[in-house]
Amino acid sequence: MPTLPLIILLILLSILPTNATPPRPITTPKNPPKPRATWYNTFWTDTAASVKYTNGAEGAYSVTWNGTGNFVGGKGWNPGSTTKLISWTGTFAPQGYAYLTIYGWTTNPLIEYYIIENYHPSHEPAAPPEGEVVGNLTSDGSFYSVRTKMRVNKPSIVGTATFRQIFSVREVVRSEGVVTVGNHFAAWKEVGLKTGTHNYMVVATEGNNSSGKADIVVH
Ligand SMILES: *[C@@H]1O[C@H](CO)[C@@H](O)[C@H](O)[C@H]1NC(C)=O
Ligand SMILES: *[C@@H]1O[C@H](CO)[C@@H](O)[C@H](O)[C@H]1NC(C)=O
Ligand SMILES: *[C@@H]1O[C@H](CO)[C@@H](O)[C@H](O)[C@H]1NC(C)=O
Ligand SMILES: *[C@@H]1O[C@H](CO)[C@@H](O)[C@H](O)[C@H]1NC(C)=O
Repeated sequence: MPTLPLIILLILLSILPTNATPPRPITTPKNPPKPRATWYNTFWTDTAASVKYTNGAEGAYSVTWNGTGNFVGGKGWNPGSTTKLISWTGTFAPQGYAYLTIYGWTTNPLIEYYIIENYHPSHEPAAPPEGEVVGNLTSDGSFYSVRTKMRVNKPSIVGTATFRQIFSVREVVRSEGVVTVGNHFAAWKEVGLKTGTHNYMVVATEGNNSSGKADIVVH
């Protein structure tokens, strides 16, 4: 004789829909995901700083540093492109002069550019009189100040050279988000700051005479 719980189970089974569907044929997706572009990473130091740059999988990297020297390291693409929407997450914890920035170079003309997303308040990037404020834009939820300065006989992607630096400096700083790169290149062009052929474009951490730690994942 069935026990009470078994009777309840049998009643439940009899009222539940059976949902018996035939096995699905195996199909290949119509639009298979495109393979990601190869990640590019760059790391430069004047060797005066003590820096440990660790290249992680995919878009990840981490860096810890201290000492008096200058370094810049990051992950992204080569060549870069003005149509990129750059998305990244992470933590940025500097003590002293350091930037978290979209960073890259163009050639003809040779330009070193920065879209500064975060920085330590002890050193505001290219603030007058170090740099010149030439314009501004609003993009991705914040005002950005456009600044420029010349570098004379400094290290560059083509060796020691004299070249212009362009900066967009975000007012509402942040350590993760999405940057519409094209808005910056358009704003720079509008104030007469020419850029050239894209070289690399990365999400970089730069430090100079400071210490800190950054863990970044570019998506
Ligand atoms: C930072 O300084 C300490 C000594 O104070 C040293 O042990 C360490 O290796 C340095 N470098 C980094 C990247 O943390
Ligand atoms: C932004 O640029 C416009 C146009 O050049 C200028 O009139 C305005 O004063 C600038 N705003 C700030 C806050 O710098
Ligand atoms: C790094 O800091 C030193 C000393 O504060 C300064 O002379 C140098 O110009 C800085 N380098 C960069 C790339 O800003
Ligand atoms: C480096 O930073 C320290 C502490 O922040 C500061 O006292 C020193 O003047 C800086 N060095 C240079 C060359 O600016």
